[in-house]
Amino acid sequence: MTSREMDAPRAGTTAPPAGGSGDGRDAGPMAHPDRPDGLAGAIRPYRPGDQEALYRVCLRTGDGGNDASSLYSHPDLLGDVFVGPYLELQPQFAFVVDDGSGAEGYVLGALDSAAFATVCERLWWPAVRARYGGASIDQGSADAWLLRWIETPPPVPDFARDYPSHLHIDLLPRWQSGGWGRRLIERLMAELAAAGSTGVHLGVGRSNERAVGFYRHLGFTDLDGDDTTLWLGRPLP
Ligand SMILES: CC(C)(COP(=O)(O)OP(=O)(O)OC[C@H]1O[C@@H](n2cnc3c(N)ncnc32)[C@H](O)[C@@H]1OP(=O)(O)O)[C@@H](O)C(=O)NCCC(=O)NCCS
Repeated sequence: MTSREMDAPRAGTTAPPAGGSGDGRDAGPMAHPDRPDGLAGAIRPYRPGDQEALYRVCLRTGDGGNDASSLYSHPDLLGDVFVGPYLELQPQFAFVVDDGSGAEGYVLGALDSAAFATVCERLWWPAVRARYGGASIDQGSADAWLLRWIETPPPVPDFARDYPSHLHIDLLPRWQSGGWGRRLIERLMAELAAAGSTGVHLGVGRSNERAVGFYRHLGFTDLDGDDTTLWLGRPLP
């Protein structure tokens, strides 16, 4: 793992972008009720035109929750690992927060991590490996760590048997601490449960104490960990 918050390898099946849930949760802007300065925004399903914005969110939050722009020589590298495969292969589990000016936060999920890893190996990693294969990289750099990930994606953890789904969530700073993280997670978990998942897991850098506190507050419990990464899970529904 690296300074990036790890949310597990991703797995999934190809499927068309989904529409709204049909229960009205995407309807209308909403300000967080506890914040007089709460941002008016709405959670909506991902649309293909969001990709560039979501790669930017990933990079801007990719260093333990802080801006990782200065860490990577290749600005799309982080998104190609932690955003792109979800948008391409599991778009029905991608939701964004948007105030009308574009997506500035997301939650991305994979329903079945083992299946997702298999499909990524077939449909995602080969093109990414080809894209960065000739890149000149400092071996001690953050880019090099990610290129090793691309070459040999980490195995799906054993606890994925009980918590088969996994997720990633990132919000640009102006959206943080306003209830949007909770709403995004709840939206995704409802969709995963409706699709039959029995549990969701994620990995987070131990140094990202804010995110660890957030997940625990939302009912995630420890599954595993090492010096740098903590793995948390929550049963579904
Ligand atoms: C981590 C992150 C997703 C949380 O989302 P958020 O919108 O800031 O959090 P919310 O405002 O929705 O908080 C939801 C609840 O968690 C609580 N909470 C948030 N952080 C907490 C913490 N560190 N400890 C305890 N509770 C916390 C809030 O008080 C709130 O409680 P309530 O709903 O019961 O009133 C967001 O801050 C973020 O994107 N950070 C940068 C990127 C990042 O670190 N991503 C995670 C990578 S693994």
